[in-house]
Amino acid sequence: MKVYIRTFGCQMNERDSEWVMGSFLRKGFVKAGSPDEADVVIFNTCSVRKHAEDRMISNMGILARLKEKRPGLMLGLMGCTAEYYGKELFKKLPSLDFVCGANSIHKLTDLVEKLKEEKEKAALTGLPAQRPPETDSYYRADKNKASVLISRGCGNFCSYCIVPYVRGPERSRMPDDILKEIEGLIKRKIANITLLGQNVNSYGKDLGCGVDFVGLLKMLDGLEGKKRIEFMTSHPKDASIELFEAMRDFEWLSKHLHLPVQSGSDKILKAMNRGYDSKYYINKVKYFRKIVPGGTLTTDIIVGFPEEAKEDFEATKRLVKEVQFNAAYIFKYSPRPPALSSKIKDDVPRDVKERRHRELLELQKSISKRLARKRDR
Ligand code: SAH
Ligand code: SF4
Ligand code: F3S
Repeated sequence: MKVYIRTFGCQMNERDSEWVMGSFLRKGFVKAGSPDEADVVIFNTCSVRKHAEDRMISNMGILARLKEKRPGLMLGLMGCTAEYYGKELFKKLPSLDFVCGANSIHKLTDLVEKLKEEKEKAALTGLPAQRPPETDSYYRADKNKASVLISRGCGNFCSYCIVPYVRGPERSRMPDDILKEIEGLIKRKIANITLLGQNVNSYGKDLGCGVDFVGLLKMLDGLEGKKRIEFMTSHPKDASIELFEAMRDFEWLSKHLHLPVQSGSDKILKAMNRGYDSKYYINKVKYFRKIVPGGTLTTDIIVGFPEEAKEDFEATKRLVKEVQFNAAYIFKYSPRPPALSSKIKDDVPRDVKERRHRELLELQKSISKRLARKRDR
């Protein structure tokens, strides 16, 4: 049988899709080049913004028509939206055959094999009772770069964010397990490796084995043959001086820091439950710049969070001007129940959100250009 997987959302989802493809290949399935030639089509879904979810649902609609022509085609959803809505998705998308939540992907191949025989709809969701095995570098989509999950889930509960609800609490992988996987990648001469977690700087807190993120980096320093290792994402409240020092001292470690600020207004940061204010953020950046000369800095910003007044937006603009990010990903707020902010009225009108979005994009574009010119010189 031929399998096609399309991925929506972040790099965690990319990695999960690759991992799932690997588990299918090991069982004798074949990778399809397009949905047209596939027997099983799976969408790996993202719920982080409403727009992403809507796009996925409308794309699924297109596949439903493909299935009208080829009734044997099996359609499935995996990932974050699958985890959150579970069986309900069968009502929204009647042509769907299976749903497999982000925390059950290790059971997906068995599910598909079972459905092949029984032809009944099935949904797998919920946290597994045991940590699923992740050391599996069997299939990698790219010869030059690979990502390695160091943790799953997130326990920060930023008030706008659905991730803790769809991915569950933060669960770090054991250091030895991560090291083994990276060793395997180095053996295969994969030059660029990215360590992934929703908040890499809180790595290990749940393990209680005394290894934190910097500790993990120190362990990686002992591995022969590595070329370049990147990491993301860093939460400002947990990004430490020790991390900046590691970025300075390990020549194999990327000097790029993605440090999402989300807003420059202290009122909004508080309502977002980010655990820092603008002063704290700017101070962290000062340390980063001092300790890691030549380091690059990028961020995420949300405009139009509930009750974001003109002066709050002005504060964000001021912070952006002061910090001078190399790049910023700017998003328009959308409520994501059950995330807490969905209970506050989404009161910034759509045209205001759009105007603020455009304005900030323009501002950032001029900063990015200026910094790029400076680097080229
Ligand atoms: N763990 C990462 C972010 C994951 S989501 C971190 O904490 O930085 C990626 C980005 O999507 C977030 O940084 C935020 O800017 C944006 N985002 C998340 N929820 C959103 C929402 N409800 N509306 C708009 N943007 C959102
Ligand atoms: Fe979401 Fe905040 Fe966790 Fe990032 S740190 S995944 S924004 S809850
Ligand atoms: Fe990633 Fe989207 Fe899930 S950002 S963790 S795929 S909700």
